[in-house]
Amino acid sequence: MSGLDRAKKAAAVAAATAAAAATALLTAPAAVAAPQPIVGGTTTTTTAYPFVMQITDASQKQFCGGTLVSPTKVVTAAHCMVGETTGSVRVVGGRTYLNGTNGTVGRVSRIWIHPGYTGTTKGDDVAVLTLSTSMPYTPAKYVSSSQTSVYAAGTTARILGWGTTSSGGSSSNQLRTATVPTVSDAGCASSYGSDFVQSDMVCAGKTSGGVDTCQGDSGGPLLIGGVLAGITSWGEGCAQAGYPGVYTRLTTFSDLVTTQVNS
Ligand code: ARG
Repeated sequence: MSGLDRAKKAAAVAAATAAAAATALLTAPAAVAAPQPIVGGTTTTTTAYPFVMQITDASQKQFCGGTLVSPTKVVTAAHCMVGETTGSVRVVGGRTYLNGTNGTVGRVSRIWIHPGYTGTTKGDDVAVLTLSTSMPYTPAKYVSSSQTSVYAAGTTARILGWGTTSSGGSSSNQLRTATVPTVSDAGCASSYGSDFVQSDMVCAGKTSGGVDTCQGDSGGPLLIGGVLAGITSWGEGCAQAGYPGVYTRLTTFSDLVTTQVNS
């Protein structure tokens, strides 16, 4: 299944679920959980996480996240950049709120998309943007290729973004963050089968669900020990029990990213 098909399918499932929930409400106005931050989590600021960037269109409307890794380089997801050109995107730093006008708007002079990228469930979901001018914010460190032990099952990871606070819901005006445990590769494979490409992906989320990245969080950071270790990529719905979020396994792409950062 292609990433797009999966997204459409996820949207259809979300619509069906919402319809079922609405019907249920007519008869039993009981336990329908309120939508929660990122899904699950709390509000935060770009002052607390200065390397978290909004990826926007030319009108500064946010559609993905990104991470500043040097004054002029931003790591994001390949799937965020499909169909984009240097003129169609901006990188906005230092702007906690989607409706803000503060911070720094960076123009993009180059877009590198992993040459192997064909769809989120195939892997290679990484891109590096080069900015025309430097961002006045402290970049994040990112994992080296040898740091594969950061993904040990159960390790706490931090997710950040402006994405929807429930599957099919609306975006958060304020940057949000949450922590989720890293999931073992065996666990992720049992959730997603062959769509989980172990070399290129890592999963994170609670077995019971409830906390996850969601639509609009893509391209944003998964931090482990404060270091960029993953890129928000995909998942079945959002925050569903048994379906953790799937992140680009950055150790696999660290050397390629470094080549881009130094070019
Ligand atoms: N593909 C989504 C995006 O473009 C990110 C989805 C993450 N989903 C999840 N369940 N963690 O924003």
